[in-house]
Amino acid sequence: EQAEKAGYDHFMLKEIHEQPRALRDTLRGRIDDDCRRAVLDELNLEPGFVKNLNKIFVTACGTAFHAGVVGKYIIEKLVRLPVEVDIASEFRYRDPLIGPGDLVVVVSQSGETADTRAALREAKSRGARVVAITNVVGSSIAREADSVLYTWAGPEIAVASTKAYVTQLAAFYLLAVWLAGERGALPGEEREDLLRALRELHHGVGQILAGAGEIAALARRYHQRHCLFFIGRGLDYAVAMEGSLKLKEISYIHAEAYAAGELKHGTLALITEGVPVIALATQPELFEKTLSNIKEVKARGAEVVTLTFQGDHDSEELGDFRVYLPPTHPFLAPILTVVPLQLFAYYAAVYRGCSVDKPRNLAKSVTVE
Ligand code: G6P
Repeated sequence: EQAEKAGYDHFMLKEIHEQPRALRDTLRGRIDDDCRRAVLDELNLEPGFVKNLNKIFVTACGTAFHAGVVGKYIIEKLVRLPVEVDIASEFRYRDPLIGPGDLVVVVSQSGETADTRAALREAKSRGARVVAITNVVGSSIAREADSVLYTWAGPEIAVASTKAYVTQLAAFYLLAVWLAGERGALPGEEREDLLRALRELHHGVGQILAGAGEIAALARRYHQRHCLFFIGRGLDYAVAMEGSLKLKEISYIHAEAYAAGELKHGTLALITEGVPVIALATQPELFEKTLSNIKEVKARGAEVVTLTFQGDHDSEELGDFRVYLPPTHPFLAPILTVVPLQLFAYYAAVYRGCSVDKPRNLAKSVTVE
């Protein structure tokens, strides 16, 4: 086992560090040379079906569900089609209004999760087309779906998913750009900007990993706390959900992700002196709004760590600690933002002496309901 960890203390840390490679492998051959098109021939969807698409549904469990939440924002924004995202165990029992003309995207690292598999069958029985985003070739979900978009993260051993999530996000960006191209929903230059930035993004992930010591120091500062909040808006909120799950899964610290604008409708009551709040503020059009939420929690005594791109804003306003992300197209921020959150959860769990790769009560793949 030591040899398989390739010198890292845990599989999770190894897998976090494999993300630049996982990202490159997942994108390889799927962006054409001049970055004009996403190339997803494996989808096998007829142009007529894509043109007349009615609605898209995304369903999954756990971390894969969180990738789906990002996927919804991405597809709606780029393709201008309505997207619903559901937890698989909810989707299968809610008598969903789907049929022929709808596309269902199921996301599963293992391709074996019982609820996700059942959701896939539910969708197929109602006549929808199913695309699976999965990491395991020949898995049950890969076999049962109409088409498969493989992520090439490589085997993921740690129970807490990291590199699979990042590659699932990459798959959603590709799928959205592809759909937008087929439907003429996005100007060529915008497609090109995004694809070019996506192709280079592994460098940014590498830069964040090189600065892991800074995140470890923050984790040391907060690892004995009982409760932590993650806030953000839009894409940042979607990533906050994943950051919060990572922390809970492996460090057992209670964490909650909240849409920053919703704080004042209840959660603000829990923000008292010294409560740590991790604020994600990467989206230019929402930046000022998130900044005012940061002020709101600071006024109640919170200690705020803000993740953002370097900008010309007054750094004092950005909370007590800042984590700056390397520059990229802001729409791709989730692939960067999640990395410090994974590292934060990892180091917090290590400092607490937790069983990082095999947290209590959890399994890597849940094949029973
Ligand atoms: C389990 C794992 C999670 C994972 C979820 C979905 O709960 O502990 O890390 O996100 O299952 O798994 P899947 O293989 O379907 O992505």
